[in-house]
Amino acid sequence: MKGVVLAGGLGSRLHPLTKVTNKHLLPVYNKPMIYYPIEALITAGIDEILIVTGGNDAGDFLRLLGNGEAFGLRRINYAYQTGEGGIAHALSYAEQFAAGEPICVMLGDNIIERNFIEATRDFEQQRQGAKVLLKEVPDPQRFGVPVFDNDQIVAFEEKPKAPSSSYAVVGIYFYDARVFEIIRSLKPSARGELEITDVNNVYLSDGELTWSLLEGWWTDAGTFDSLLLANKLVADASAKDD
Ligand code: DAU
Repeated sequence: MKGVVLAGGLGSRLHPLTKVTNKHLLPVYNKPMIYYPIEALITAGIDEILIVTGGNDAGDFLRLLGNGEAFGLRRINYAYQTGEGGIAHALSYAEQFAAGEPICVMLGDNIIERNFIEATRDFEQQRQGAKVLLKEVPDPQRFGVPVFDNDQIVAFEEKPKAPSSSYAVVGIYFYDARVFEIIRSLKPSARGELEITDVNNVYLSDGELTWSLLEGWWTDAGTFDSLLLANKLVADASAKDD
């Protein structure tokens, strides 16, 4: 399976930290943020990787990551997102790279404690449709949230004011090649973005979406509080490793 890391967007919730650089180049403990999703994909056995970025600092990714030597890769692929049209818009730039194969997409500001090897294996068997990962969180209103009817998911809501469950959709998604056709059919949301939650709702209503729970801690790093938390979690984890 191929992997896509989405690292575009304005990072406006982190201004002024992101005024002169891209959010994913900011430090999380001892590494730039973008290292974590790349390492997570490689741990899951995915070593053909595309980075989608944008904005004024795209060249810095090339200077930082080069051909992926620091990760033992022979090559990293890059794509440039024009504008900041949302997560699904950023993903649309991966169509040529995917070349009809299933993909695993990871948001560039997501950091996990363990791995998603099992989910990757499961989707390799599933082949078709989509798979998402869920995590129970104290603040679901900040995320995409599943609506359950008993133990069946019946919809996903993006940042609901009154979340109907305490689960967040983690920024790790598995899709078949139809994802690009679905993205082309999307309309921008109220915040002017092509939403990944709308993509997931299409797969769900077609009966083609599976899900599982992510083990270990998970956080995004896109706000001051979550960036601080990410730093603490990673620092604690590496202290335990020593
Ligand atoms: O972290 C998981 C959450 O990520 C999900 O639960 C939500 O459903 C999903 O919408 C997303 O929520 P955020 O509002 O936190 O996403 P954000 O705008 O911070 O974008 C997340 C990453 O996606 C960001 O680190 C880079 C990439 N991105 C985002 C935009 C808007 C792009 O590459 N291009 C973009 O235009």
